[in-house]
Amino acid sequence: MSDAAPIAIDPDVEFVRHDLGNGSWIDLARGWLTGSLELYRELEATMPWRQGRVWRYEKWKEDPRLSAGNPDAGTAQFPIAAANNFGNVRSDPDLITPKLANLQLYQLAIPAPTPPAGSFDATAAARGKTVFSGPGKCASCHVPPLYTEPGWNMHTPAEIGIDDFQASRSPDRRYRTTPLKGLFAHLKGGFYHDGRFATLADVIDHYDATFALGLSAGQKSDLAEFLKSL
Ligand code: HEC
Repeated sequence: MSDAAPIAIDPDVEFVRHDLGNGSWIDLARGWLTGSLELYRELEATMPWRQGRVWRYEKWKEDPRLSAGNPDAGTAQFPIAAANNFGNVRSDPDLITPKLANLQLYQLAIPAPTPPAGSFDATAAARGKTVFSGPGKCASCHVPPLYTEPGWNMHTPAEIGIDDFQASRSPDRRYRTTPLKGLFAHLKGGFYHDGRFATLADVIDHYDATFALGLSAGQKSDLAEFLKSL
């Protein structure tokens, strides 16, 4: 970044609300980021911008958004936010922190819905369960009873065999192990964070190829029935 650009954040700038009608609005904080034009020009000229592709509605589409990692930032992403300590904001008075424990308890207490009878083949699902925890190696990440990971449930794109386009936008550059409990309730719209896999069979084929599992056609369909039974 050039020395000439005085890039700084003024946290005391007031937000001015502009009513857009129909219950929507936009908040503007003029002067919140000084040197923003210089920053924009610098980033536009120097970053390795690239366009990704996303799997939508069973075909690949060009993603209109551009993405770029910051080669100068090393492992630190969002350098301006980091310099201003936005990852550790403490408000005074703090109206949120005292409520978090109860909120988490409430969220964890909500039972996942159970699949309706007849929505899956119970015999095949029972066989699929042994594939899930055995040769499919699924349970190493999708741990019962929620079928996500206790603790830090994040994985690098390489660990699950997909691109980093969306992960690179997040602070830890990872994807979250989706909880599979109650999966039957969201079978539409595709699977994975961007819906790139249209069916559970596609998801299973992906794992079979990525991890060289060598699952048979029968094991794959049993596994799909097990996923629908969760
Ligand atoms: C290395 C850890 C890991 C292993 C092993 C693993 N998964 Fe996953 N799984 C993930 C992650 C991470 C995601 C989220 C991917 C995303 O959002 O792009 C995911 C997502 C899924 C989804 C999509 C859920 C949804 O609602 O979109 C299904 C289904 C799934 N996994 C099933 C399986 C099955 C079946 C196996 C075994 C053959 C398996 N997983 C093995 C980590 C893993």
